[in-house]
Amino acid sequence: MEKFVIRGGKPLCGDVVIGGAKNAAVAILPATILAKGKCVIENLPCISDVMASLQILSELGASIRMVSRNIYEIDTTHIDCTEVSNELSRQMRASYYFLGALLGRFGSGQVAMPGGCNLGPRPIDQHLKAFTAMGAQDSVEYGMIRVTAQDLHGAHVFFDTVSVGATMNAMLAAATAQGTTILENVAREPHVVDLANCLNLMGADIHGAGTDVIKIRGVKELHGCTYSVIPDQIEAGSYMVAAAITAGDVTLHNVIPKHLEPISAKLISAGCEITEFDDALRIRRTGPLRPLKIKTMPHPGFPTDMQPLMTVLMTLAEGTSIVTEGIWENRFRYVDELIHMGARIRVDGQVAVVEGVKELHPAPLRATDLRAGAAMVMAALATSGTSEIDETVHIERGYENIVEKLQELGADIRRVEVPVSAISRAI
Ligand code: EPU
Repeated sequence: MEKFVIRGGKPLCGDVVIGGAKNAAVAILPATILAKGKCVIENLPCISDVMASLQILSELGASIRMVSRNIYEIDTTHIDCTEVSNELSRQMRASYYFLGALLGRFGSGQVAMPGGCNLGPRPIDQHLKAFTAMGAQDSVEYGMIRVTAQDLHGAHVFFDTVSVGATMNAMLAAATAQGTTILENVAREPHVVDLANCLNLMGADIHGAGTDVIKIRGVKELHGCTYSVIPDQIEAGSYMVAAAITAGDVTLHNVIPKHLEPISAKLISAGCEITEFDDALRIRRTGPLRPLKIKTMPHPGFPTDMQPLMTVLMTLAEGTSIVTEGIWENRFRYVDELIHMGARIRVDGQVAVVEGVKELHPAPLRATDLRAGAAMVMAALATSGTSEIDETVHIERGYENIVEKLQELGADIRRVEVPVSAISRAI
């Protein structure tokens, strides 16, 4: 097990290259199951969720060749198993995308039933609603969910709630189903569009991704392709916060500035200067931080995955900020850690009232989940002492080389191995 040791107080300056989007990659990798032939997927972030997806593909029977650190060639022709083992599917929540892909190709699929998580309950009723409308049946046994269909057919699905996962899973199942599927009240996130683009390159017929209605004409089969995953909007946003909180000057490369607009708009209101280029963005802060009102919403609203990072930034603003969480029930668990650092935050249900303070103090911190963990890193970078962050495994799930990238920008951050004896004493 590792922890991060961070000595904060330095403005971060320089250049950082953003990796591929985790939440696109974890759907595009299962999508290769639908293709007859080799798929070369480029710009895959080297993070544990991507490694887990590759391992699942391999266990199902796919041949996988690493072309380079971020490029893999995948041939799913010889997959002969439709059940993702309990152990592997529990390694990451997004294993549910294997349900849609296996259902589309084989008419059946099985993964572990996703339970609740640190963000609150994580139901998949809307995924199942779409599969059922397409003619599938589902059953749960020993914690595993199984979907099967004799004839998967097109259907008209009106989602009760806007869900990224249900939208992408329904697209996977519908791409090769018989007939036309219309999905209404769908998610419009950049990764939804990215999956549609990848499937279309494989020969699918999908229109409307990025709007709230998606139309999918089922095709007989899909073929191999070479596809490059879009840059990660949230990784980019996290480095923007790192620049803002340390009053630094950072240029991000390999980004799509359009995808960052909801984040850029808030950071400009908070007192940052942002310059957009074709595939780069420069952010700097020279003045004080101004308070904000933020409410997280489905795209193009402000992304929930940036909420903990922006709350940390607001702890140092001159005035009172209001942060409202509109997607997850339980996304303020990290606030206690910030209070230990001297932040003044009051949480009432889904709303956090943040009274800005002059400075945060170093403290022993815990990464309660992926984005909260990244937020702790930002908080530690803003203090003028040394903080340690435990349970960094959550952070490494979604941020490729975060320590090395921050070091390049001038941060004093190290990964330190925690001896097993220290862990058992702590338990
Ligand atoms: N929901 C339902 N029923 C469903 C599905 C979702 O009620 O069948 C509810 C959820 O409980 C939640 C809301 O709908 O309140 C939105 O959930 P969504 O399905 O959109 O979330 P997800 O697909 O499970 C993805 C990202 C999350 C991100 C959310 C929202 C992946 C792998 N995960 O989750 O990312 O927070 O969309 O944008 O794509 C992260 O990267 O740190 C992360 C948590």
